Order: sequence, then structure tokens, then C-alpha cells
Amino acid sequence: METTDAIIELEDDFANLARLAASGAVEDVRLYLAKLVRKHRTYHPEFASRLDQTLKATQTRSLGPSIMRRNGSFDSTQGAMPADADSKMSLIRVFDDLKGIECPILSQSLLGQLGTITQERKERDRLAAHGIRPTRSAVFVGPPGVGKTLSARWLAAQIGKPLWVLDLTTVMSSLLGKTGNNLRMVFEHAKENEAVLLLDEVDAIAKRRSDESDVGELKRLVTAILQEVDAWPDTGLLLAATNHPELIDPALWRRFDAILTFGLADTQGVEAAVRRYLGPSLDVFAPWIPMLVSSLQKTSLSDVERTVTSLRRSVVLQQTDPARLVIELATRNASHLDKVARRDLAIELARSGSLSHNQISEMTGVARDTLRKYAGPSPIKGRGPKKGT
Ligand SMILES: Nc1ncnc2c1ncn2[C@@H]1O[C@H](COP(=O)(O)OP(=O)(O)OP(=O)(O)O)[C@@H](O)[C@H]1O
Ligand SMILES: [Mg+2]
Repeated sequence: METTDAIIELEDDFANLARLAASGAVEDVRLYLAKLVRKHRTYHPEFASRLDQTLKATQTRSLGPSIMRRNGSFDSTQGAMPADADSKMSLIRVFDDLKGIECPILSQSLLGQLGTITQERKERDRLAAHGIRPTRSAVFVGPPGVGKTLSARWLAAQIGKPLWVLDLTTVMSSLLGKTGNNLRMVFEHAKENEAVLLLDEVDAIAKRRSDESDVGELKRLVTAILQEVDAWPDTGLLLAATNHPELIDPALWRRFDAILTFGLADTQGVEAAVRRYLGPSLDVFAPWIPMLVSSLQKTSLSDVERTVTSLRRSVVLQQTDPARLVIELATRNASHLDKVARRDLAIELARSGSLSHNQISEMTGVARDTLRKYAGPSPIKGRGPKKGT
């Protein structure tokens, strides 16, 4: 992530946390901390662990009175969204993309699988006439930022429904028996509304298994989810998403009708994403698209979007030369790429004529002969600045 973006995000988090703390909403502070722990676990594990310790230290104090106050704050007859009785936070986020959402950039085979699910929904009666049920549930598996949530939104829109996302971290916030109730409340509401319901980050349940204090609660939660998945009707569509399939209880796994595996996009996919997210800046960056694509190999499309948006900001606000921005990006990313991608990037850099073959070769480790073979002679002579000077 770009440093300035990271700082802005941290500032937002800090401001939100401060607001909750100042209003004395202890339970909400804890929920927010739990979210931050999950968010930072991958890239800032030490920070996440510090926050986690703070969270654990506050746990025992906040248990007593909040449980006594428990009463169902959700009234399905009024069509309100289920909310946690203690925190009042909504347990469901709604994505209403019925006005249109662009098709996610995915492999043909994944698009085919999503298309099948949509078709089965639309032709449920025809299937039923043959005694066949449509796919009722599917798990989306794959690394962060590859379009699992986006595809769930898209799928829901194809079926003509908004997507309801159940945040399991919020559901699990309340300990001692309340989680099961929260969960049932959400499922009841979803079934009544024939909703497309996404259990996002379903591994959150599994990850907490190592936490001794929660074992009883977790068992109840897993049992509740298993029952709900079993009882899920043909009229709704139940989706789950995870980065960590290995953490999911096999009993839960078996109950889903389909498993869709998402991966990093190939070169074509990255190019489509670069073009899509350049949007109105496409012309400005047009000569640099091949190099952008080479630099962004093996990154998630979420990162592609973030990077491209940040380049566009710099061009608009700081009037930075796009060429300079793209070369800086290429230089930064070269070391993360595998051999083939690094070679492609080196050739793109050589073709751009902005650096000497010597410089490119030092940066990427690609032989000058290779560069000359694919990009012609070096337009700039000399070794460029020596390392360490
Ligand atoms: N396949 C894709 N096609 C188009 N855009 C994508 C794709 N994948 C990611 N993006 C962009 O990145 C954003 C985040 O992606 P999304 O939330 O779907 O990732 P995810 O797989 O659910 O990640 P996580 O596991 O972290 O929840 C999307 O809203 C979209 O802007
Ligand atoms: Mg997601």
C-alpha cells in the first residue's frame, strides 16, 4: 500500500476508535479493536498482537452487565436488520448493486461456475420438475483481494437481490451463548427474505479455536452454523468466503454444494483491471500500460486498483509525470516478481528508453544481451549512478 494511503487509513481508524472511546461505548471499542486485529494480522503481526492483548485484557470486565441486558433487538416483522442487542451494531452489511455492477475480472472457468449458479436460480422450476434442487450454497476460497466479495455482490445482482454480508467477527463479539442467538436471528431473517447471504471470513470461527476461553462458545457456534446450512432453503443462496480453507471444520465444508477457487489474475486479467481502474486517466497512461501490467504481475486486483488509483491521484494533484511514476513503481516492484515476470518488466523498461540497459540489468538481474535481443540497442549509454553513491 502507498505510504500516504496507509497513513490516511490509520488516521481514520484512530479517529473512529477515539470517537467510540470518548462516547464510553466499551463494547463497540472492543468490536472495533477486533476488526483492527484481523485487518493487520497479515502485514503487521506485532501491531495486531499488541491490539489483541489490549482486547483480551478488557474482555472479563465487559462481560457481566451486558449479558444481563440481553434482549432481541431485532423485529423481523418490521423488516429491520438484525442487530447485536448489546452493541447495537448491525450484524449485516447490505450491498445493493441492483442498479448495475461491473462483471468481476475472473478466469473463464470461474465465470462459467458463477454463470451456472445464476442459471440454476433462474430455472429453478424446470429443475424442480425433474426433482432436482439448484445449488443452494457455495464457498469462495482464495487469497485476499482477488474478488470473492465482489463476485458475491455480482452474483446477487444477477439473481436480482441485494447481497447481505454477515460479519462473523461482530456476531462473535458477544460471548456466553449469545452468538448462537445472533446467528439464528440473521438466518431467520435471511430465509424469510429469500436473501443471498454471504458468511464473510468464515474462517474467523475456526481461528478462534486456539483461544481456550472460547472453546465452548465456538462449539455451539459451529453446531448452530451446521444446522443452519443444513436447513437452508432452495429459495435463498448461501455463500461463504475464506482465505484459509485449511482452518474450516470439515463438517462445515462438506455441507456446501459447491467450492469455487479464486486465484491471482493472469496477465490478461491484470491488463483488464489496469484499464478498468485507470478509467478517465486511460489516455494519460496509455503508453505505459504494458509496463504497468508487467509491474503488477502476481498482485491481487485489489492491489492493482489501489496502486492505479494512487498513480492517478499523483498525476492530478501533484502533476507528476506519469512516466516517472510508472518507472518508480517498476523499480519498487521488480524484486517481488518471479523470473519470467522480471524479464518481461525489464524488456518493457528497455523499450520505454527511459533507462540504460546497464541500469535495467542492475535493477532486475536480466542480462543486457536479453534486453538488446528484445528491445534493440540501449538508447542511453553509461552505467547510471553506482550503488551506494
Ligand atoms: N476479480 C476482480 N475483478 C475486478 N476487481 C477486483 C477483482 N478482485 C478485486 N477487485 C477490486 O478489489 C476490491 C476488493 O476485492 P474483494 O473485496 O472482492 O476481495 P476479496 O477476495 O473478498 O478479499 P478478502 O479475502 O480480503 O475479503 C474490489 O472491490 C475491486 O475493486
Ligand atoms: Mg472479501
